[in-house]
Amino acid sequence: MTRNSYAKGSRDPWNYFSQRAPRRDRNRGALLSSGAMPAPPFIPFSVLLGILGILCVALTVFWNQKWRGGFAWDGSAEMFNWHPVLMVTGLVVLYGTAALVYRVPRSWEGSKLPWKMLHAALTLAAFVLAVLGLVAVFEFHNKAGIPNMYSLHSWLGLATVLLFSCQWLVGFASFLLPWAPNWLRALYKPIHVFFGSAILPLAMAASISGINEKLFLSLKNPTPYSQLPAEAWFANILGMLILVFGLLVLWALAMPAWKRPEPDSQETQQPLLQEAS
Ligand code: HEM
Repeated sequence: MTRNSYAKGSRDPWNYFSQRAPRRDRNRGALLSSGAMPAPPFIPFSVLLGILGILCVALTVFWNQKWRGGFAWDGSAEMFNWHPVLMVTGLVVLYGTAALVYRVPRSWEGSKLPWKMLHAALTLAAFVLAVLGLVAVFEFHNKAGIPNMYSLHSWLGLATVLLFSCQWLVGFASFLLPWAPNWLRALYKPIHVFFGSAILPLAMAASISGINEKLFLSLKNPTPYSQLPAEAWFANILGMLILVFGLLVLWALAMPAWKRPEPDSQETQQPLLQEAS
């Protein structure tokens, strides 16, 4: 079944955008009708996203290594430096990558199960890094006697991590374990998709507000933030790169032509573990 034969006949509420997807030549990936968001070529777009993701992580490491004293895991200020690295790597770059798993055209053919497992594994890795990133900042605060959870950044950040944790647990229980009935999966799927794409802008906002706060807290003497020293330039650019990476991921998620066709087959409802019959 092609995307179009499915999209034409379908009344599937999950697939609002793909019902409006333009007719497309899948071999060339080109749009054959106008009126919808144009899709750039998938592979160069993915390469660009990969480069941007690597840059976001590398620049975060470089910033902390060059200007903030490097890394340690002993409750010191150097332990704090793991916080931005682990948060950006986990909740922005790995999470953004995980969100795009079903946009890989190969995932549209054959079993969906390996792609579900890849999605779950990448998001689990993102979750583990986020928890370690929180341990880094809480340990540092506790050892240095700095109050916890006073800033807007910390409230936004913790809300993002809590939402992400709920999303992972409910997604795992619904889509990978055998006991959720199909009607419940179908009901929950649009909610999972909505919150899945809402968590990324929240993580971007938390990261950018964190960078901003760190610069205000640390750049005082001799050159304050307002004088735009080299570190401020560098970290401002890092914040803008995180924004560009996140926006491109959101754009890719919204692209009608890149959405996985969802035929009403049993296979798309298939959990990871089948109950013994
Ligand atoms: C998704 C990404 C992020 C999340 C979820 C997050 C979450 C948090 C949380 C929950 C705290 C409170 C810790 C406490 O009160 O002991 C915190 C503190 C902090 N974070 Fe982040 N963070 C993120 C990214 C960043 C980044 C990229 C930076 C850049 C340096 C950063 C800088 C800070 C700073 C300076 C603090 C200490 C001051 C405060 O409590 O606001 N954060 N973060």
